[in-house]
Amino acid sequence: MNLKIFLKTAVKAVKEAGRIQRERFGENFKIEHKGEINLVTEVDYQCEKAIIDIIKRDYPEHEILTEEAGSVKTSSNSRYKWIIDPLDGTTNYAHSYPCFCASIGLEMDGEVVAGAVYNSMLDELFTSVKGEGAYLNGNRIRVSKVSDINKGLLATGFPYDIRHSKENNLNHFCNFAVRAQAIRRPGSAVLDLCYLAAGRFDGFWELKLYPWDMAASSLIVKESGGMITDFKGGEFSIYKGEMLATNGLIHQDMVDILKLG
Ligand code: IPD
Ligand code: CA
Ligand code: CA
Repeated sequence: MNLKIFLKTAVKAVKEAGRIQRERFGENFKIEHKGEINLVTEVDYQCEKAIIDIIKRDYPEHEILTEEAGSVKTSSNSRYKWIIDPLDGTTNYAHSYPCFCASIGLEMDGEVVAGAVYNSMLDELFTSVKGEGAYLNGNRIRVSKVSDINKGLLATGFPYDIRHSKENNLNHFCNFAVRAQAIRRPGSAVLDLCYLAAGRFDGFWELKLYPWDMAASSLIVKESGGMITDFKGGEFSIYKGEMLATNGLIHQDMVDILKLG
């Protein structure tokens, strides 16, 4: 099966979302609270609608799972599910901090087989099709070769229940902060993972993520030669919330540090 045809639709849709994001960046748009510190803007909804319209036009029978609208089922029992984060990095976007993207992954029979992520501020398009590598603006990307965590640049993020839950990642953050070269908290898990795929980061960990944060980005990491597991080094699933992604070379070191709790 030629999966590239699906990628074409994903690219068209993330680019349209990116066009909207860039056009409205810094505008005075409406912002609502989904939780105490969890925001959603008018632009998230606008991008989501644009993406759904494009996917439905090309594949009306396919299932869709998207962050703001939830699960959009079709009458048929489809093998295909499009998993969408219309705007990853909403807090950044709401503050006019230019670090965000749109992300679309396609699952076929429960496995992610195509993905596209677009950062409109830098005009960077990350794409991948299962078995065919990962690309940035059409050029093949690969994970870094850093094998010593002392020299590793790591990325992470914190869950929206950081104020109330003990599982808020602050423990791991402290443990990594004194063992890695440095840590960044950019505010877009999807871009963090694409940057890992491109060799800009060497490792990434986060908990309480959602399928739309990990669908396209996990494929892009795998296809760039990266390794993905849960925190214990066990099997990864985009539905499990927890993700440890590295260049492979510092993976065991990161598992060991995560064990410190
Ligand atoms: C969030 C961002 C952030 C991460 C959060 C995500 P959103 O996604 O990716 O970096 O730390 O866990 O929920 O809400 O901006 O789509
Ligand atoms: Ca997200
Ligand atoms: Ca989002």
